[in-house]
Amino acid sequence: MNLNVNIEGLGLDKEKILQTRAEASKALDRLWSGQEDMTGWVQLPLQQDEQELEYLLNVADIIREEAELFVVVGIGGSYLGAKAAIEALPKVERGAEVKFFGINFCTDYYREIIEEIKNKRTILCVISKSGNTTEIKAAFETLKPIMEQKYKTKEEASKRIVAITDVEKGGLRKETDVNGYTNFIIQDDIGGRYSVFTPAGLLPMAVSGIDVRELLRGAKDMAQSTAWDNDGMDYAICRHLMQQEGKCIEAIEMTHSRLGYLGEWIKQLYGESEGKNGQGLWPATLTFSTDLHSMGQYIQQGRQNFFETIISIDDPGYTITIPQGDLKGRTVDELNKAMIEGVIKAHRSVGVPVAEIHLPKLDAYHYGQLLYYLETTCAITAMLAGVNPFDQPGVEAYKAEMRKILGL
Ligand code: PA5
Repeated sequence: MNLNVNIEGLGLDKEKILQTRAEASKALDRLWSGQEDMTGWVQLPLQQDEQELEYLLNVADIIREEAELFVVVGIGGSYLGAKAAIEALPKVERGAEVKFFGINFCTDYYREIIEEIKNKRTILCVISKSGNTTEIKAAFETLKPIMEQKYKTKEEASKRIVAITDVEKGGLRKETDVNGYTNFIIQDDIGGRYSVFTPAGLLPMAVSGIDVRELLRGAKDMAQSTAWDNDGMDYAICRHLMQQEGKCIEAIEMTHSRLGYLGEWIKQLYGESEGKNGQGLWPATLTFSTDLHSMGQYIQQGRQNFFETIISIDDPGYTITIPQGDLKGRTVDELNKAMIEGVIKAHRSVGVPVAEIHLPKLDAYHYGQLLYYLETTCAITAMLAGVNPFDQPGVEAYKAEMRKILGL
């Protein structure tokens, strides 16, 4: 495994970690057994169908050629994986501008997107596994007539709509079949927050110019890493032990501004997978050094009910040197690394447990490794706590109440 995960700073008893490995191993075996519900994502990087991937990349090429703007209508697991990757990763090809929509009920945002579609060559992509999410229905039903007006007929608009949904279930599947939209499938046994390596994540990434083959190669290598037979699960185990020690918040700290949305993706992954039966760590995300000038105070001297996980990048890929003043000759990355070291020392000095995850580089390959690693360790932590990582009755509850209020 190329990721470097350091759990030393959590200060946990090594014996306890070793003792829990057997149980974590059983959880990992269950994930790989193919017998558990909603675990299609586990072997997905190993089972990528080359023809399907080729087709997806061809569609992405056409979209990049024909569209200035690619509007993706999706929420939760049908949006965050792609959004986070597009913010984080370098683009190896010239991409279309990708905007995400259907992520709230904000009238201003509706107005902005409608105006943009009127003014730019647009392709619309609707992603919904259930085809039944209110945000998505509202957004898609609003934008479809705008596309029809812009491209004169329903048929012409339909040629510029791509759907990503279930193979047979849900309203979006029916609509797709009736209108002949170009479409891709989210496997039945993969839930939204584990769908980043399905077309829901891959198509918007490919349209933006990300090297998705490298991303998948990273995920595959991580899935096959021998570290899982050894210390690969220790971060999952430690997160479980931290809860047993009374910690209820994990402050997940990004030391690179391009990782901000990765924090949002992690929030969904951890929060929805683990927050059940009165259990789970509250995933709080921060970006350093920005948030050190606000939340840094709380971390140093506030209520000690949390631990930290710092995600950093070893090699930023290029060097900028401060040209003058007191810091003359120092590189920006040198300052970043000094900040991280200072944070760890200061926080450890008051007893805050700190874990570290290092990516060698912020490229598609290592990012693919990281996503797969976080998915697997999150599922293991949830299983150690005895909760099902793959359902989300709480999310469904709000959706049902909202539909009732609206009389739908
Ligand atoms: O993880 C999940 O399952 C949820 O966050 C869903 O992704 C989200 O609610 C969107 O659902 P859908 O893709 O069915 O519209």
